[in-house]
Amino acid sequence: MTIKPEGCLDLVGPHVTGWVWLPVEPGRRLRVEVLFGESPLRVEAMADRHRPDLEAAGKGDGRHGFTVPLPEALAEREPLVDVRLPDFPAARLRGTPRRVIVALGLVTLRDVRTTDGDLERLRGFLAGMVRLNGGCVDTAVPGAADLQTWLAGAGDGDGGTDRCWLIAERGDRIVGHVRIGPGWPALPDSAALTLGIELHPDVRGLGLGRQLMLAAHRWAAGRCARLELAVLPHNARALALYRALGYADLGPVALPETGEIHRRMAVGLPAPYGNAGRGVTLVS
Ligand SMILES: CC(C)(COP(=O)(O)OP(=O)(O)OC[C@H]1O[C@@H](n2cnc3c(N)ncnc32)[C@H](O)[C@@H]1OP(=O)(O)O)[C@@H](O)C(=O)NCCC(=O)NCCS
Repeated sequence: MTIKPEGCLDLVGPHVTGWVWLPVEPGRRLRVEVLFGESPLRVEAMADRHRPDLEAAGKGDGRHGFTVPLPEALAEREPLVDVRLPDFPAARLRGTPRRVIVALGLVTLRDVRTTDGDLERLRGFLAGMVRLNGGCVDTAVPGAADLQTWLAGAGDGDGGTDRCWLIAERGDRIVGHVRIGPGWPALPDSAALTLGIELHPDVRGLGLGRQLMLAAHRWAAGRCARLELAVLPHNARALALYRALGYADLGPVALPETGEIHRRMAVGLPAPYGNAGRGVTLVS
């Protein structure tokens, strides 16, 4: 049996929060070392805090959480945060490394271009997200050519009026994206398009998701009657956002590939208003 710790860096901000445990020794509490910055400031802690979500997920008695405050002197510097396990030097926690961002600042929302290396940058972002989630880049991330084919649309040759891919950029870094187009859970030949959104964990919880959703709605208004999406029932933050934006819950729906149950949600769209989404929106 391999003796391998399992854990995750959950939140970085005024506090750095995560969990780690050793499934083969569930009663053992592990030491963690949180590293802040390039010439790192090290803070040691024990992963022994009780977390009801860990207990509910079957991680022993749930006493495997850790929390370390962000050193005040570093708060403005947006330091990188990494976590090491002194007793398992080769182990890496899922979700590491991350950057502390306490204020979003200026973010640009715009269409992905098929020129200027934009597709490679988008692919790099998607690959980074898969790595953070512990997935396999080779199987989970389409190549730039596939991204281009998708963007070109279903062969109408005009850039595909039924699809759009918006990115959020902070400086020269892509920090999020939203994709609208045909596909599950919207039914083929219906008046609906499907939306999918994902932000880098560094910028979650700062209001950017709402801004990207609103930009997607602006693009879609007049192009389809309704937007649909599928969300996992335990994704509280996403559910809160969709409900606040007026999405109705249409009931459970199974992901075709795995059968995993999601909630199908939809929002009706008004006729086009304002900027139709081809331009740039700034968020701060
Ligand atoms: C879901 C996601 C797009 C939301 O974007 P975000 O910028 O993090 O969310 P926001 O800051 O705009 O907050 C959305 C709402 O959730 C609420 N919220 C924030 N954290 C929450 C939490 N832990 N639990 C419940 N609600 C939470 C906020 O208060 C906000 O509601 P409000 O506008 O009424 O105040 C983003 O977190 C993300 O990419 N998550 C991972 C990928 C994902 O889940 N994609 C969706 C798949 S369907």
